[in-house]
Amino acid sequence: MLNFEFKNNTEILFGQGQIKQISERLTPNDKILFLYGGGSIKKNGVYDDVVNALEGFDFVEFAGVEPNPTYETLSEALKVVKAHQISFILAVGGGSVIDGAKYIAAAAHYEGDGWDILVNGAEVKSALPIGAVLTLPATGSESNGGSVVTKKATQQKRAFGTPIVQPQFAVLDPTYTYSLPPRQVANGVVDAFVHVIEQYLTYPVNAPLQDRFSEGILSTLIEQGPLALAEPQNYDVRANVMWSATMALNGLIGKGVPHDWATHMIGHELTALYNLDHAQTLAIVLPALMFEKKAQKREKILQLGRRVFNLENADEEALIDATIKAVRDFFEQMGVKTRLSDYDLQEQAVTEAVDNLRRNGLLALGEHDDITPEVATKILRLAL
Ligand code: NZQ
Ligand code: ZN
Repeated sequence: MLNFEFKNNTEILFGQGQIKQISERLTPNDKILFLYGGGSIKKNGVYDDVVNALEGFDFVEFAGVEPNPTYETLSEALKVVKAHQISFILAVGGGSVIDGAKYIAAAAHYEGDGWDILVNGAEVKSALPIGAVLTLPATGSESNGGSVVTKKATQQKRAFGTPIVQPQFAVLDPTYTYSLPPRQVANGVVDAFVHVIEQYLTYPVNAPLQDRFSEGILSTLIEQGPLALAEPQNYDVRANVMWSATMALNGLIGKGVPHDWATHMIGHELTALYNLDHAQTLAIVLPALMFEKKAQKREKILQLGRRVFNLENADEEALIDATIKAVRDFFEQMGVKTRLSDYDLQEQAVTEAVDNLRRNGLLALGEHDDITPEVATKILRLAL
């Protein structure tokens, strides 16, 4: 096992009705920005619950944070933060709203253009505090310090991360996810699945507890994901998916083990260029990446096949191929297509995505830093 430090500062408020607890976590003098997305919370009752929970507090609203939140929109929110001297951000939505809140929180305390934090490595020294009310289990953003923001003008989707912007609390009420359209349910399950894979499917470092945490989450997602599509109002299923997605990227399972975030990095370019959903890009890239890197990932692919998909075959090459197929089949079963051509993308997309990787300086991805632009090209061609 590799050395590590671990601290997760987010208090999880899990279960139906937990929104009521947030007033105790805010201070009476707080000037709150209530940040949300395109309006789904006005249809499913979450907006009303938040307004009720904020009774007696001073707050202003900013709506319209879009999926794959943009620098352009968040810059408008930043103006509101400055005009109203906001002291706390309450992000209500999916990963996009929460990521947007993190960017705003950091940019509010940064003297220059906040985009510097994403592209020029400007250090985040302090930020506004954040609370989250999660409506879409997927990204883990509610209890991690990561944020992904897109600049429309340059078609760049970039990430930054620091514990300074991690939410202080996160409300996880499974009933808030009943209204999710099937596409977003599926996206969430695939995203969480891939987060686990990217902290698991590298090479063994004798960390059996982390492996079993990961295998537990993967097995739960495989079991509960299809049920969430079939029984949208099943509280227990929603609760299990929600907790799995949080645990997939709150830092715990990735401690002491190598990571491979190449699927995410290549996928971000596809979203930046063609506006594919985040999870769609992952479903395209991961099976192809597993195939291309099967020699380096051999032992963990075999372990995944045996322990998570319950596959067995005396011929290990056949077992590896069957495991990759099982991953692809799971994504397809969830309704997320796994080929570039399924999204009307052809060879030109391969070239453009790899050009963007180069432009963003992403020249050595993967646990061995060996996914060069040339290897990324091979991976994307396998996904055509
Ligand atoms: O905007 P509204 O109207 O709220 O609608 C949203 C949006 O259209 C809708 N939605 C959310 N909750 C709903 C709902 N509709 C009905 N009922 C509900 N309860 O779902 C749509 C997608 O929302 P979005 O927040 O974009 O999805 P997701 O949570 O998948 O977030 C994706 C973003 O997170 C980033 C991605 O790159 C992408 O930009 N990620 C953030 C990470 C992190 N911070 O750690 C890691 C991830 O790997 C990921 O990169
Ligand atoms: Zn993701």
